[in-house]
Amino acid sequence: MSSVRSVVRGTGSYLPARLLTNADMESLVATSDAWIRQRTGIGARHIAAEGEYTSDLATAAAKAALESAGVDASEIDLIVLATATPDYTFPATAVTVQDNLGIEQGFAFDLHAVCSGFVYALTNADALLKAGQAKKALVIGAETFSRIIDWNDRTTCVLFGDGAGAVVLEAVDESEADGRGLLSCDLRADGRFRDKLYVDGGPSTTQTAGHLRMEGREVFKQAVGLVHGVVERTLEKAGVTADDLDWFVPHQANRRIIDATARKFDWPEEKIVVTVEGHGNTSAASIPLALDVAVRDGRIKKGDLVLVEALGGGFTWGAALLRW
Ligand code: UT7
Repeated sequence: MSSVRSVVRGTGSYLPARLLTNADMESLVATSDAWIRQRTGIGARHIAAEGEYTSDLATAAAKAALESAGVDASEIDLIVLATATPDYTFPATAVTVQDNLGIEQGFAFDLHAVCSGFVYALTNADALLKAGQAKKALVIGAETFSRIIDWNDRTTCVLFGDGAGAVVLEAVDESEADGRGLLSCDLRADGRFRDKLYVDGGPSTTQTAGHLRMEGREVFKQAVGLVHGVVERTLEKAGVTADDLDWFVPHQANRRIIDATARKFDWPEEKIVVTVEGHGNTSAASIPLALDVAVRDGRIKKGDLVLVEALGGGFTWGAALLRW
């Protein structure tokens, strides 16, 4: 019996034009470039323009991914869009992206796992491709966190940014995949942590979008240990060791969390893709943004073993291993 591999055919990303530097943040709240850099590694973040929505960011990233894949929009029969900042409560932002791209076939939906959204979306798209539900998928992470930030709260407003990233996944028969594709994954959620990182509004509770609230120190404390577990299981499921890895592409929340995770697996700095300095934390968009940067600058190449991981509100967390 033949089986299917979900192979990455192309990547794309989009960042809004407006850049908010740490110096700009100093004029908004009592903070400093030195504090932000030392605690997070962030130097600047992009902010969507007025009237520029999550669907616009996602559409731009998707177009770039289709172009790099050499795939026409008419071939796409699945869109999974990871976002915690949809254009509207409904319909799903994914259907707006579908329409923006002129796609009239297949199906499209949003997936809500906050910062782990892209890892969840990737593994869900993989399962749908393997089940024969679709042949070519766009997996997108897109966020406009600037819209749910409390700009008076210095403990959170310096951390986040807007952006989008996308990959084109294609179902390829294993016999023709050359070992490429998504090899393994491990997803987790634990709702007991839901008050550590949340938004204090929503349609059913306050009828407002609400603002992001976070116990940063508590999230930090849990993140490294929890991520370690899913990474270990993901490597184990694929039968590879940490030494086999070519690229570690983590969620870009905080440089210190990234470094602590990499240290646990003895991954040298040269194997880690870090974009947090220029992007800030773009939630579900951070991993596909980082993947696109590293593919376009020539670091990630066909055949490389690439690990992605993230932890976010919920908590939700997970990891996935791909042969590029
Ligand atoms: O993507 C989802 C996952 N999210 C994360 O991974 C975030 C995880 N957490 C973190 O990255 C870190 O906890 C933060 C960067 C949010 C904070 O760093 P920290 O080292 O945990 O600092 P802290 O919260 O313990 O605060 C230390 C001090 C406090 O002052 P006092 O109470 O010691 O006087 C804060 O009020 O730093 C103060 N502080 C600030 N000072 C200048 C908090 N925010 C700022 C700020 N500028 N922006």
